[in-house]
Amino acid sequence: MKSIYYTASSLDGFIADADNSLSWLLSRDVDGKGPMGYDGFIEAVGAMAMGATTYEWLRDNSDGDWPYSIPCWVFTHRDIEAFGGGDVRFTQGEVAAVHAEMVTAAAGRNLWLVGGGDLVGQFDDNGLLDEVWIQYAPVTLGAGAPVLPRRIEFRVEEFAQNGELVCTRLAVVR
Ligand SMILES: NC(=O)c1ccc[n+]([C@@H]2O[C@H](COP(=O)([O-])OP(=O)(O)OC[C@H]3O[C@@H](n4cnc5c(N)ncnc54)[C@H](OP(=O)(O)O)[C@@H]3O)[C@@H](O)[C@H]2O)c1
Repeated sequence: MKSIYYTASSLDGFIADADNSLSWLLSRDVDGKGPMGYDGFIEAVGAMAMGATTYEWLRDNSDGDWPYSIPCWVFTHRDIEAFGGGDVRFTQGEVAAVHAEMVTAAAGRNLWLVGGGDLVGQFDDNGLLDEVWIQYAPVTLGAGAPVLPRRIEFRVEEFAQNGELVCTRLAVVR
């Protein structure tokens, strides 16, 4: 079981642009079944967590259905209305306590820390981040939501090109 931040980033380290848009990413050619692709990644995941901004992005950019079949914890201090069904658990809990609940729910499978970057940083603050998989799009954005606003040391485990994206798998060095 690993806790993995799987995300896509611009070359200058933003996961969303200054307008909270992913248009710079979603237009890219990438093979879900290719190297470090989404299909292979998600097969091994048993629970996921995200921040409120990411949840609201999904709500505003989906067809109305919740797209995941595994339990998802959404961190927020607000009462957000759920959309589209699914097993979504809103929480203001301590990151370490939520991580323990995720481990139980995942029953040996990996945990996907979806983002944003500061929430993933909070997991790392608690020693609860194992790997970061980043798919870099060949674009700079200049501003936006940072990929991981912490100082963390990594070891490169794997890298590959998948379509238009440069994919890296990094292990946190403790
Ligand atoms: N490129 C990609 O693959 C990718 C992946 C993921 C996300 N994204 C995008 O990147 C952007 C991320 O936005 P973001 O960095 O602002 O982050 P975010 O993590 O999605 O949301 C931040 C919000 O999460 C809540 N939160 C964070 N930590 C908390 C805690 N410990 N307890 C309770 N609530 C907590 C707070 O919400 P409240 O204000 O409600 O308290 C905070 O304002 C979004 O646009 C998303 O769509 C892109």
